Amino acid sequence: MGSLSFEKDFEPSVVTPRGLIANGDFGEMKRLKVATPTTPRKNLNVAVTEPGSRNDGPSLDCILMNYIDTLSQRINYHIGYPVNICYEHYASLAPLLQFHLNNCGDPFLQNTVDFHSEDFEVAVLNWFADLWEIEKDQYWGYVTNGGTEGNLHGILVGRELLPTGILYASKDSHYSVAKAAMMYRMDFEMINTSVHGEMDYSDLKARLLQNKGKPAIINVTIGTTFKGAVDDLDIILQTLKDCGYTYDQFYIHCDAALNGLIIPFIKNMISFKKPIGSVTISGHKFLGCPMPCGIQITRKSYISHLSTKIEYIASVDATISGSRNGLAPIFLWYSLCMKGRAGLQQDAKICNENARYLKGRLHKAGISAMLNESSIIVVFERPNDPKFIRHWQLSCTRDMAHVVVMPGITRETIDSFFNDLMQEREKWYQVGTTLPPCLADDIGSQNCLCSYQKMRH
Ligand SMILES: Cc1ncc(COP(=O)(O)O)c(C=O)c1O
Repeated sequence: MGSLSFEKDFEPSVVTPRGLIANGDFGEMKRLKVATPTTPRKNLNVAVTEPGSRNDGPSLDCILMNYIDTLSQRINYHIGYPVNICYEHYASLAPLLQFHLNNCGDPFLQNTVDFHSEDFEVAVLNWFADLWEIEKDQYWGYVTNGGTEGNLHGILVGRELLPTGILYASKDSHYSVAKAAMMYRMDFEMINTSVHGEMDYSDLKARLLQNKGKPAIINVTIGTTFKGAVDDLDIILQTLKDCGYTYDQFYIHCDAALNGLIIPFIKNMISFKKPIGSVTISGHKFLGCPMPCGIQITRKSYISHLSTKIEYIASVDATISGSRNGLAPIFLWYSLCMKGRAGLQQDAKICNENARYLKGRLHKAGISAMLNESSIIVVFERPNDPKFIRHWQLSCTRDMAHVVVMPGITRETIDSFFNDLMQEREKWYQVGTTLPPCLADDIGSQNCLCSYQKMRH
């Protein structure tokens, strides 16, 4: 580390605009109230410059301040993706940036180097094992780079246990599931979904019966990416039973990327007391973390199929990546300790109430919208202006857009978004030549308030 010192080289205020953190009190970092609407961020045209050639241009600190300033101005317009950007712990944890922390290999085995955080990683994994009801000596897991890696891992465990298995996932499952099928060259059955985005169990049944000779590896989505629908694990297990699949003929991976920390507080569906093989979540989604990360948990007895002894790292490796981010487990551990189950439950309740509030306002104003039970994702008509979509950083599919009401998205932000939408909508649809889209096929006729549906009712 030589001459590096945190005070000198990592002082957060060096690169933090004064407006971002009042009085330098980092514990007080909250979503900022930005008075004037800002424009989407432009490309900063950053280049790597040689140390001796910077005399004419802005200093590195200046470039960073400019960047942080832009991000801080846009923070209240980040409502279209499931990222919790409301964490207050970065100042306490910032000194960790002076160390390279690498959790390469198996977190449960003694590491031969000191610069890792596997103690924190195991603490986090134990917390999730407890949440998902599996004994400490019965599970294995690791902190991943995100939900995608968790899915790749869970499906790989399934494939190693049942090499001839067919992968089943709904049409609304995350694209990483299809990616896994492609990477592992697995047969893949895509199951239909209801208008709400939930797996169509009769279609699943028909395909399971059709493929009866082969084992089934089923990806169950606990909170779909776009509509926040929850595939019912219990119905899927019953369907497998009805189709005559015994425990050794199926493997279930639960992709609970966003809802994994919401569902347990509403309807505890995820449990290793049921015959499931693995569960994954994204750490940066509902819990929140500055760097992408996730948690993957599976049964210990399954992991020997994947474990390889690696002499170079003096460890056994059953993970997907090589080097793993050692900072992420510490951020996750810190957040879990600060919030606890009660704090997360409170977050889930507030987000769900705020999502209902947004859906209620949209419906009252005659705008098509849908919110699945226990979801925090409000699906509504796609705004008719790409600039508006970009401004609010919305995600869109076909004629739909969605707002993910994450922790930190206040009623004030929701109102500001709603008022902006109403104002712009008047312009888009004022002449009467363009009409709001019909969403009956996408979110159900009861949620669609387009003029055609109104006429029909
Ligand atoms: C259901 C679901 N699974 C997996 C993922 C992928 O997670 P990540 O972006 O952490 O890789 C997402 C991301 O939105 C998701 O919604």
